[in-house]
This record gives sequence, structure tokens and C-alpha cells, in this order.
Amino acid sequence: MGTIQFPKDFLWGTATAAYQIEGAYNEDGRGLSIWDTFSKTPGKVLFGHTGDVACDSYHRIDDDVRLLKELGARVYRFSIAWPRIIPQGTGAVNEAGLAYYEELVDKLLANGIEPFVTLYHWDLPQTLQDQGGWENRSTIDAFVNYSEVVFNRLNGKVKKWLTLNEPWCISILSNYIGAHAPGKQDMQAALDVAHHILVAHGKTVKRFRELGIEGEIGYAPNTEWREPYSSNEDDIRTALLRNASFNQWFLSPVLKGEYPQEVVEWYASKGFNVKIEAGDMEIINQPIDFLGINYYTGSLVRYAPGNDIYDSQEISSGYEKTDFDWNIYAEGFYRVLTWITSEYGALPIYITENGACYEADKVDGKVRDNNRIQFLHKHVLALHRALESGVNLKGYMVWSLMDNFEWAFGYSKPFGLVHIDFDTLERTPKSSYYWYKNVIASGWLEV
Ligand code: FCB
Repeated sequence: MGTIQFPKDFLWGTATAAYQIEGAYNEDGRGLSIWDTFSKTPGKVLFGHTGDVACDSYHRIDDDVRLLKELGARVYRFSIAWPRIIPQGTGAVNEAGLAYYEELVDKLLANGIEPFVTLYHWDLPQTLQDQGGWENRSTIDAFVNYSEVVFNRLNGKVKKWLTLNEPWCISILSNYIGAHAPGKQDMQAALDVAHHILVAHGKTVKRFRELGIEGEIGYAPNTEWREPYSSNEDDIRTALLRNASFNQWFLSPVLKGEYPQEVVEWYASKGFNVKIEAGDMEIINQPIDFLGINYYTGSLVRYAPGNDIYDSQEISSGYEKTDFDWNIYAEGFYRVLTWITSEYGALPIYITENGACYEADKVDGKVRDNNRIQFLHKHVLALHRALESGVNLKGYMVWSLMDNFEWAFGYSKPFGLVHIDFDTLERTPKSSYYWYKNVIASGWLEV
């Protein structure tokens, strides 16, 4: 047995998102978001769960900060709910919303924990959705203005900013697959949304620089990795197309100022087009300070004409799975990170999400989740291999600090290092929490 060592200043931490943990959905002037609407639409979320109460983090800042402190977390990634700040999406600013996040930030800082803020983790104000949401270009400026309000309030305290969380989910999952709010099933709408959110990202970065806000700004695309099922040319081409439509589509515009041409052509062959206006690509291509990368899974893929929009079929047999039925594929984590570095250069990277869903009950006051420990161990090892291979890795945030509202699956899919009893809201650290605490404290791992 040996050990692997991480740099002393590596930023270990955890991540959450507003709608998944805060609750207090109608308190202190918060407006409604598309997730309030979606979760209350019958059939959209498993068991009819909603984020009305969630982990009640809106009222439990002290509990959450204590859990982070005891974990030894150096960084805490959380998101700001746009409808708490500007309840109608544009117009009046809600002081109570700003005060809530400022209190959270102050308490994190007082405990030596760096706040890492996501401006958009999917809770678009419903009023904006009523006017077309991200399909409507006017939402771009609404987002930039909302971001400016938050920048001005937290400037000097927050030094790490992310514009968007997971543009693939905001566009394709929510507007083509329809599994997330607003639940559309329209590929052209999804491509329009994808383009508009990238323009919103670029304009926000530009505004951040113009305002002279301290610190660094990036965004957090989700990545997955597909390997060709065989060395057959069709399978290889299909795997490239799948990776390009999932990864490059949301990375190349920002980092190279262009969409991957083969995907543009593929979509065009199916009758879908990106509607680029003059100046859009330059705006999207604003230099960013770092990349946030979310990674969970991947698979083999093969050519299967007519099976889906990419004429592809994922082969998921043979993998061990988490309780979300996602393939465990740590090798893909290593591959995606080394690929990003060779494709786009050695930009600083923070892993803004990685983690696993495992169900585990509380027995005799303890929640034993050794499967999550194994998952994290494998992925941290892959991370170290990437680091040794020249990937400019700066930190790692486990999804999630605590069990929470897992979108379309409600409370049935726990990802937390901390168990939440959703009847009493009691917080109980799991075995994985103590395992991670050791990793953070020592900076090393047995291998
Ligand atoms: C990611 C989301 C995050 C959480 C994890 C499990 O796609 O960003 O909010 O739901 O998946």
C-alpha cells in the first residue's frame, strides 16, 4: 500500500444549490421560480415533492456552516436564487434576499471558509419564463443586471464566481428532453436557449470586468465521457459526435469562440440551427479565469441509426452503478480532464461537482455509506492522475454537503455527505463525511 499526496493549498469543499436546500419558498419577498411551478405540476417530480421546505437552509445558516467547519471544508459552493434578489426577474431589488446571502458569506468567512458563488443554478424567475424565458433574448440582459446587483453587494467578500451551472441541463435536458423545468420538448428551443445562456455568460463576465469586481470568474459546464463501443468507424464517429455535442458544444464557444462544426452540421441535417447574431461569438468568447467542471458518469456508445437524435445508443451494461443508476466511470473523469487540457490549454480547473447517490438509513444514530466512500476514493484517485498529467487542478467540491431536493426525483435520491431526516430536518454526518474530513486534513489518500 502507498499514498498519493495533493498540494497543500488544494481547495477541498462541497457544493449545494439554492432551490435544492433553502426552502422558505415564499418568505421575505422571494418571487416564484420555474422550479416552484414545475414541482407543483402533477407528474413532473417524483412523489409530487417540492422545494418548499427542502433542507430549510434559509433558516439554518448556523447549522450548515458548523457542518462545513467541522468537515474542515476550505470552500463552500452555493448558488444565489435570482427570485430572492429580483423577485420578478427585472425591476425591484429585494433587500432581504441580499441580506440573507451576505449573512451566509460573512459567516463562512468568519469560519475561514471561502464562498464560491453560482449565479444561476436553474431557478429562473417565473415572470421571465412567462415572457419566453431563455428563449427570449431579453432574458440575457435581465441576467446581467441581476448579476450586477449581486456583484456589487458581495464584492470584496466573494472572490470566486460562476455564472452558469450546467448549460447542457439548462438547455437540452430542460427544453428538448423535458425532464427539468420548464419541461419543453423542442430541439430548436433547446438550441436557442443554449446559445442565449452562453451569451448571458459572456456579457456577465464582461460586466464583471467593467465593474472592476475583485476575484475570479468562470462557469460550470457538466461533462460526460463516451468511449466507442468498438473500433468500427461508425462507432468511433458516433462517440466523437456524442462527446462533441455534450462537452465541446458548451466549451468551445467560450474558450475558442466557435461551435464545433461537425455538430453544427449534424443539427442542420436534422433541421435545427444555431441563430447567431452579429457580435455574439465575441461576447461568448470573453476570457475567463478558471473552468468549473462537473463530472458524474459516462459510458460506451455505438452507432444506432434512428435510435436518438445522434443516431447513437449508450451501452451501460457491465458498469457498476450508483443508486441513481448512473454508471460508475472514474476513468472517464481522468479522460475528460486530460482531454480538456489538450484541447483548450492548461486553464485552472476547479471540480465544482462530483459525487454519488446512495441510499442509506440511519441505524443506531449512524449512517454508513461505504459505497459513497468507494465512489469518492476512485474519483479522487482519477483526479490525482489528472493532476500528475499536467491538468491545472485547483480544487474539488463534493456534490453534496447534504441530502437535498434532487430535481425531478425529489427527495428520493440522496447525494449528501450529511444525512437529512426530511421529517425533522435533523442533520447527521455520514461515514463518508468523516472519510472526507480525513482526506481534507491530511491532503493524502491511501492507494
Ligand atoms: C447535477 C446538478 C446538481 C445535482 C447533481 C446530482 O447535474 O448540477 O444540482 O442535481 O447533478
